[in-house]
Amino acid sequence: MARYAHITGWGMATPKKVLSNFELEKIVETSNEWIVSRTGIQERRIASEIETPASLAVQAALRALEVANVHPSQVDLIIVATSSPEHIFPATACIVQDQIGAKRAGAFDLSAACTGFIYALEVASSIIRSGAADTIVVIGTETLSRFVDWQDRNTCILFGDGAGAFVLQASEEPGGILAGVLRSDGSGAELLTLPSGAGRYPFGQTIVQNGQPYIRMNGREVFRFATRVMAQSTLEVVQKAKLTLQEVGWIVPHQANQRIIETAAKNLNLPVDKFISNIHRYGNTSTASIPIATCEAIQEGKLKPGDYVVFVGFGAGLTWGATLVRWGGPFTTKRKRIFGRRHRWLSRLRSRFLRWWRRIEGFLWGKNAA
Ligand code: ACO
Repeated sequence: MARYAHITGWGMATPKKVLSNFELEKIVETSNEWIVSRTGIQERRIASEIETPASLAVQAALRALEVANVHPSQVDLIIVATSSPEHIFPATACIVQDQIGAKRAGAFDLSAACTGFIYALEVASSIIRSGAADTIVVIGTETLSRFVDWQDRNTCILFGDGAGAFVLQASEEPGGILAGVLRSDGSGAELLTLPSGAGRYPFGQTIVQNGQPYIRMNGREVFRFATRVMAQSTLEVVQKAKLTLQEVGWIVPHQANQRIIETAAKNLNLPVDKFISNIHRYGNTSTASIPIATCEAIQEGKLKPGDYVVFVGFGAGLTWGATLVRWGGPFTTKRKRIFGRRHRWLSRLRSRFLRWWRRIEGFLWGKNAA
């Protein structure tokens, strides 16, 4: 019996605090006009002291599980893609596992910079297709604002914080994730780095003096690389799925720069409105940008069951990749999962409990902050 990995749930969480370009003008020598015309970004979200990669991931995961109508105890595996983990160890995924109550799930973090969510989707769908797991939560979560040099106008204007999550479930019904392409080129490692705080440059006074705790980027070279690989990997994944570009309904690209998205559209000879973009609101949220853009596209009624959707990203490493999905939505009685079918009353009770639990959690966090 063939097994397919369907995306049946999605959720996002972003910090409340908004940092506009006008506020950035007061921090560093830049202007709203320059940032909008060179990147398309108008504002980004910045995590408060009590918001962390794990707390944002927990909110996004619970929302995704609610959409999928899956109880945390049914989750087999949690994969957190992140470039700004809670710690070097333990994995952020383990903290999420505990806080959402996924009692029988394995959990690990995956590091492929901004391409991390694409890598995680490919790993999760392969595990589901192999039969080793039925239900996997894939999360992208970031608080990169904590690793940005607020004196460096080349980078501090770009990044924002947030989290997005998908629930992937096994089904014998054809569809879901149909093809994936993963690529890397470590010879470009120096182009985009966050060098310190790990084995090569352990955290210490010299690191601080040398300005190494922060993201460093060769913007022009990364831009050149990004425009090349976005179009290339989109084409590759479409061919791998034996489809044509014309059959693709939507492309959800990594939100790094509106000009990169427009160049990819031009290189593929596609109208730019086929590309989902919300970069003006969130900036570059790294691994979280693709699931956040997907959640908003669904809210706006763009992604419909049956649509072919390409997720495509690039990032430090260098890494890049793409995933092609036949969009389905949550399982209904018609679209059954292989395992874990439940009664409707039990599902409603679970949803109510999750809502109630989140309210208590929000109250407790508020109390801690005070
Ligand atoms: N405000 C005003 N002027 C600025 C700013 C700023 N924020 N930043 C740079 N400039 C200046 C530069 O100093 C330069 O001045 P000069 O000509 O006097 O030297 C001029 O503007 C042009 O600089 P460029 O670097 O050529 O600007 P560019 O048009 O390339 O835009 C940018 C810079 C936005 C960083 C662009 O190169 C880019 O988006 N690159 C890709 C970045 C990216 O996608 N990174 C994320 C990768 S994903 C991951 O793994 C994290």
